[in-house]
Amino acid sequence: MPIPRLIDDVLHEASGRAERRNAVTAPSGGPAGNALLIAWTGLLLLVLIAAELITLLDVRGLIDWHVGIGVLLIPVALLKTAATGWRILRYYTGHQPYRTAGPPPTLLRVLGPLVIASTLGLLASGIVLIVVGEERSRQNLFTALGQRVDLITVHQALFFAFAALAGLHLLARIAPALALTSGRAPGRLGSTTAVAGSGRRTLALSATVVAAVIAVVLLLPLADDWQDDGGGPGGPPPGSSSPP
Ligand code: HEM
Ligand code: HEM
Repeated sequence: MPIPRLIDDVLHEASGRAERRNAVTAPSGGPAGNALLIAWTGLLLLVLIAAELITLLDVRGLIDWHVGIGVLLIPVALLKTAATGWRILRYYTGHQPYRTAGPPPTLLRVLGPLVIASTLGLLASGIVLIVVGEERSRQNLFTALGQRVDLITVHQALFFAFAALAGLHLLARIAPALALTSGRAPGRLGSTTAVAGSGRRTLALSATVVAAVIAVVLLLPLADDWQDDGGGPGGPPPGSSSPP
């Protein structure tokens, strides 16, 4: 497919006016229900990611918030991965309503898995930091082009990949997400309440939020090692690559 056409398809989808033939099938709502769950989860991710970005203004001083919001993001990102993965699976296993709805535009189809890999990689690298603690996180893993690389450098590198990939995804998906959740998305019957399965979607989102809160209660104490009051053994070791 010629490049201009590939880009046209993405711009049309990003406008939120693309006609996606999402059938409504009972009891879950089928492709239309799945698209709604993906869109609501996307908006929840957007709010949490925005809050997490604010903690970067002073990650050290706000380390509890940084770790807390970071952990809240994990179940929500996993729900997003499951909902989009289900759509891909149903499409490739020939489930008719999903075949009729069709795949996303090619460039978004390629971008999707990269957004998932960078998001889950960023979150996993954050968990590694709090599990192994500050001292070991600042130990040099290897040196590349004269740059010392430790576990924090890995986390920062994944952040830049995530920022670029999820940023592109957000540009293409924010208007469709708002159109879907406000019931204005073209190519589907009636308002959001008309889509079967709203109880299941509410249950999935609520269970995800409950799991996220439980994860924070269990994991946040691990952030103590990163507190500035020297919670970790002797504070950052001298000559470590990442400034405290
Ligand atoms: C930052 C806020 C985000 C918003 C508002 C958002 C919104 C959306 C929307 C509306 C769709 C299309 C649903 C459809 O009509 O089928 C979508 C698809 C998708 N999203 Fe997101 N998303 C966000 C973040 C993420 C993140 C962090 C991930 C990774 C965990 C992700 C992974 C995907 C994938 C793999 C798809 C399927 C490919 C596609 O159709 O583009 N999204 N997203
Ligand atoms: C489970 C989730 C997460 C955990 C446990 C976590 C933990 C940490 C820790 C311990 C640090 C080192 C702080 C220091 O150098 O003193 C850090 C740094 C950082 N984190 Fe996270 N993080 C998580 C998620 C995220 C997310 C979602 C983002 C971005 C959206 C992010 C972006 C960053 C950045 C950019 C730094 C480097 C800050 C700097 O050196 O100025 N992290 N994180």
